[in-house]
Amino acid sequence: MRVLGIESSCDETGAAVVDETGRVLSDVVQSQVTLHAPYGGVIPELASRDHLKNSGPVVREALERAGTKLEELDGIAVTNRPGLVGALLVGLQTAKGLAWSRGLPLVGVDHLVGHLLAVFLRRGESGEAPPSYPFVALLASGGHTAIYRVDGPRAADVRELGGTRDDAAGEAFDKVGKLLGLGYPGGPIIDRLAKQGDPKAIPFTLPMGHTRSFEFSFSGIKTQVAQLVREKGVPQGEKPLADVCASFQAAVTSVLAKKLVAAAVREGVSTVVIGGGVAANRELRQRVGALAAEHGIRAVLPELASCTDNAAMIAYAGLMRLQAGERDGYELLATSATSLPKTTRKGRGSRDAV
Ligand code: KG4
Ligand code: ZN
Repeated sequence: MRVLGIESSCDETGAAVVDETGRVLSDVVQSQVTLHAPYGGVIPELASRDHLKNSGPVVREALERAGTKLEELDGIAVTNRPGLVGALLVGLQTAKGLAWSRGLPLVGVDHLVGHLLAVFLRRGESGEAPPSYPFVALLASGGHTAIYRVDGPRAADVRELGGTRDDAAGEAFDKVGKLLGLGYPGGPIIDRLAKQGDPKAIPFTLPMGHTRSFEFSFSGIKTQVAQLVREKGVPQGEKPLADVCASFQAAVTSVLAKKLVAAAVREGVSTVVIGGGVAANRELRQRVGALAAEHGIRAVLPELASCTDNAAMIAYAGLMRLQAGERDGYELLATSATSLPKTTRKGRGSRDAV
């Protein structure tokens, strides 16, 4: 089975062709990072207009690189939630037009499910077996941070165990990057600078740092950095700047890794997975691998290219829906809300699990 995926939920226009083994025949991403960089964040109107300009060429390139014609495909998958609604509409309308013109089945995909399944992509090439269900996954991106129990590949198989009460982890990286004058997006820049820094230089504290619940809060640490900058100015020189980055990154990644592994322990699940842009973070990947191993849990990490927004993960998640016999009609809508339900089972017990 071969499916074309289309992604336009935020600031990346993506199109990709994927098969049911997770083989990626093409994966084209047109990033808008430079367009939004002067504003320090994504401007929705500019994003929609740029998707409109790029969606046609990106789809054409994805088909060409995959060596396939539209009519040879088994279906089209498109992100229809959550995201900037104006941006989503562009991808959705592109997908509907293409599907309608060739009579192909169309499925909408929850962007978060795409991130959760990105770990299944390109496993044949890496030689590492994909995770088996059920697994517990940490999704940490610019817009979302939550832990999920994943019993299968469809939205109905996914339950949120706990999420952030305020900022997403990627958002915290980006805001701290802005406070430190590092440019946008801050995540990859902080990741790079942190390598030279001392993670113990500044004792940042994270609220909700315990593992009794799987909820997060990242706005407090952002305020701590803001206060530091207000009192002492932006750290001057490579080493002081690297120390702030390393201390901030250590605090954030340690709580993410701890809660992920604690959730797996509590759910009695033997595999953990990460996804979303922050899953590209070097320190988070190390911490998750090490902490999972300590608890006899298998950690499966997505390839770096599959962490940030891309259409290959959307194509794969859509293919899973198509394989299950699911279809959406041409009246498919876009919405800023996710379809993933929260668990009714709150974190139980009063002692830290990890
Ligand atoms: O998944 P994504 O591409 O878009 C959303 O769905 O939000 O995630 C983008 C986020 C940004 O906040 C970016 O700073 C962060 O992922 N990010 C990173 C790294 N690479 C991207 N954060 C920390 N370390 C990284 N290496
Ligand atoms: Zn995303």
